[in-house]
Amino acid sequence: MSKLQNAIVGGVRAAMNYVPGSWLPGGTPDPLSEKRVNLGKQQSRIDGPDKVRGAARFAAEVRMEGMLYAALVHSTIARGRIAELDVSAAENADGVVLVMTHRNAPKMAVPPGIGLTNLKAAGNNLLPIMQDADIRWNGQTVALVLAQTQEQANHAASLIVVRYEKAAARTDFAGEKINARTPESLILDKNWLKKGDVQAALHEAAAKMDAVYRTPWETHAPIEPHATTLRWEGDKLIVHDATQMLYGTAGSLAKVFGLKDGQVYVSSPYVGGGFGAKGLWDHQILAAAAAKLSGRPVRIALSRASMQRLVGGRSQTEQRVALAADRDGKITGLLHHGYSVKPMHSLTDEAFTLSSRSLYAAGSFDIVQHAVDLDVLANTAMRAPGEAPGTYALECAVDELAHELQIDPIELRRRNIAHCDPVTGAPHSQSDLMKAYDLGAARIGWSKRTSAPRSRREGEWLLGMGCATGSFPFVRMPGMSARIIIDSSGRATVASAAHEMGMGTATVQRQVAADRLGLPLDDVTVKIGDTSLPFGSMAGGSSQTASLGAAIHAASIKLAGELVRLAGNDTPLAGLRANELEFANAGVQKIGDPGRHESFVSILKRARRSDISVVGESPAPLELLKFSMHSRSAIFCALRVSDVTGEVRVDRMVGAFDCGRILNPKTAASQFRGGMIMGLGMALTEETVFDERKGRVMTTSIADYHVPSHLDVPDIDVLWTDIPDPRTPMGARGIGEIGVAGVAAAVANAVFNATGKRVRDLPLTPDKLL
Ligand code: MOS
Repeated sequence: MSKLQNAIVGGVRAAMNYVPGSWLPGGTPDPLSEKRVNLGKQQSRIDGPDKVRGAARFAAEVRMEGMLYAALVHSTIARGRIAELDVSAAENADGVVLVMTHRNAPKMAVPPGIGLTNLKAAGNNLLPIMQDADIRWNGQTVALVLAQTQEQANHAASLIVVRYEKAAARTDFAGEKINARTPESLILDKNWLKKGDVQAALHEAAAKMDAVYRTPWETHAPIEPHATTLRWEGDKLIVHDATQMLYGTAGSLAKVFGLKDGQVYVSSPYVGGGFGAKGLWDHQILAAAAAKLSGRPVRIALSRASMQRLVGGRSQTEQRVALAADRDGKITGLLHHGYSVKPMHSLTDEAFTLSSRSLYAAGSFDIVQHAVDLDVLANTAMRAPGEAPGTYALECAVDELAHELQIDPIELRRRNIAHCDPVTGAPHSQSDLMKAYDLGAARIGWSKRTSAPRSRREGEWLLGMGCATGSFPFVRMPGMSARIIIDSSGRATVASAAHEMGMGTATVQRQVAADRLGLPLDDVTVKIGDTSLPFGSMAGGSSQTASLGAAIHAASIKLAGELVRLAGNDTPLAGLRANELEFANAGVQKIGDPGRHESFVSILKRARRSDISVVGESPAPLELLKFSMHSRSAIFCALRVSDVTGEVRVDRMVGAFDCGRILNPKTAASQFRGGMIMGLGMALTEETVFDERKGRVMTTSIADYHVPSHLDVPDIDVLWTDIPDPRTPMGARGIGEIGVAGVAAAVANAVFNATGKRVRDLPLTPDKLL
């Protein structure tokens, strides 16, 4: 039970008549966890055809009458002051309407920070925006140009001359470690976790390993760069944004400009990938300020370079892991200490020790995270924050221990896997990681692996195979709301300010609603993507599907009650209480009794109603108080390494996932595969190159920052245990982020198996293997 979970639960616990053990009052599993009408079946994306045709409109494609285009000028020093700022050439350039700097920018408050305690906030960067001459990181915006065309704006921005007074900046990760803080946080409750005596365990161990692993700063590279098109209508702000936090963005912009909730409207029906990056950053705020000053609509579409200056990424980490074991391979001590960057103006924890706190039933624990404060862009969440770098270190360490003990690495995990939370003792809601290992091992052909490194070769290529565990905690948000409208033809419309950033939100929730309401799929429409709809929590923490599913469930309970009331006495439903009702055959019936049924159409017709509308809200996630809840995976990799060039070629990857029930195999497989491809980039190529002398990010295009291309991606098989989790909506846990976790370790472990070289420093570029 962490503070994160307590925070989500808030004060609601006492207010509810809570039976410990389920998200549903009464402690029963969700009936949909077993129902297999639409759920569990493959469905193609309902937004697919519009995207393929180019009919889906993204934020940078929205046109507004009289719209101006924005370009940004970024500071080239990390800390200091603007001494001189000459904007005259820019102001006189063709097409320029406005140059905004700290001298003429309107007063703006610092945006409230994103957080689970404030579901209507989305700010990532807690620094004043263009309010003074101070420079706080290399890349901070010092001027914004508005012009008639993007090209004119870009050109004018290049004419602005800035002279800086430099001050000493803290940009050296290694050097600043000595000043690191050891904060507790929303996610890391007891940051310094000590249980038993790890030092004694290491001293007495029959086998041990002790090593330091490093992961680099990583940069977000979604297919759609950040973009916003917006305008003021009097004191209302209309925003088309690429966001995974609709209400958070609206609420934060309202605070920044001193408006009330409801004065900011945000629309974001399609997002070209979020991964944690698509929150509120300085550009939306600057665009709104410039639109206010100029009295014109504004489009700001960040270049890749501007993205790297303004949108944070995954922090670099340095992690020491030490494991002690007895002769049978039982882990007797687990030490995990490490550092990541978290500037004071950032709210994001890179919680890389989470898996070490829950995965293995070690005899003793000594785990702590240190946060290093630097004068850099605020770091942020990036798909499987914490877990992606954390499982790299932990799961390489387990592989090292297996090699030391001469035990098969899967067998070593089997001997040590935790059957409940090893620190708190909380039971798992559902967990069968070893079944995932069995499935994955069979699929990749693990029996063909030889345990001795450098023992398989084809010409210049050394062959290897490796595996690792991935993990991501279950999160469900409170307060997510859904409206269900049933019309006189008996069809349903479900509406919520949920987000579509490529994962198939409406597609899957249509399956959820159809099965929940006893309707055919074609009779359900799902509306998502703007703040005119009921409250949606962020699409983050792999929480959206469960949160919205719970909201639809809550709304459906209300709907059943309202329908019976509406049906009156002249109905087979007469006298039935709410807990005796279920939906079936496009209507309501007594549970298990089709003889006492009335259809939606018949009820509405008799009541002379054109429709019925209810709103339901996802209850507080009280299941987190009682259970240890994690999605888990077994990742396998087969690869070859050139003995001549050090090049790594991945031949195959298999991901076997234990994430509760899979609701739509097609969209789920895409999520898993996409995550694994991101893990492949983390393993082999991705690295934000940072010049510590100037505090400047040097890899500002995707020509410099290497994400996998199609030719880099091997055959990827994804499998799942598909065991419903009785403690979650629909029996499902999150699947959005787990795909990336464990992949880098599986690749590194396979590289060791191929070459005998243990590289503890990502990415695994050829120079490190020669
Ligand atoms: Mo995720 S890193 O919560 O989009």
